[in-house]
Amino acid sequence: MEYKFYDLQIKGDERGSLTVVEGNKDIPFEIKRVYYIFDTKMDVRRGFHAHKDLEQIAICVSGSCKFHLDNGHKTAEVLLDSPSKGLYVGKMVWREMYDFTPDCVLMVLASEHYDGNDYIRDYQAFQECVQNV
Ligand code: TYD
Repeated sequence: MEYKFYDLQIKGDERGSLTVVEGNKDIPFEIKRVYYIFDTKMDVRRGFHAHKDLEQIAICVSGSCKFHLDNGHKTAEVLLDSPSKGLYVGKMVWREMYDFTPDCVLMVLASEHYDGNDYIRDYQAFQECVQNV
């Protein structure tokens, strides 16, 4: 399964905390895009796709949420509940996000610019792709 956690260092002092993520240094790719998901309504489940080439790191900078990950052979449920925890999700991993707390801000660092053609949004098509690898 192409996922792993990155422990991001918290630089704290009497004023509070600060965490830095540098592309190709703290994470294994150059960051070309950042987006964040917030104000997610109760009981919403989103995602429901895999990417052909995109790599991402997801960080819950506030609150928490869970990821359901699936590589076509194995699944995993992952809790993101700390701004110092980066979840790397590689290519061809189906993801669904759920159990967002009201204060959740899920920030995603992406290796490529937005490209609708990189998405596989049909689960059956995803299964066929990964079974043929
Ligand atoms: P969507 O892919 O549905 O979100 P998720 O898979 O996380 O549930 O994205 C919602 C909308 O935002 C959709 O119209 C596409 C658009 N979008 C962009 O324009 N650029 C981006 O980088 C992303 C991630 C989404």
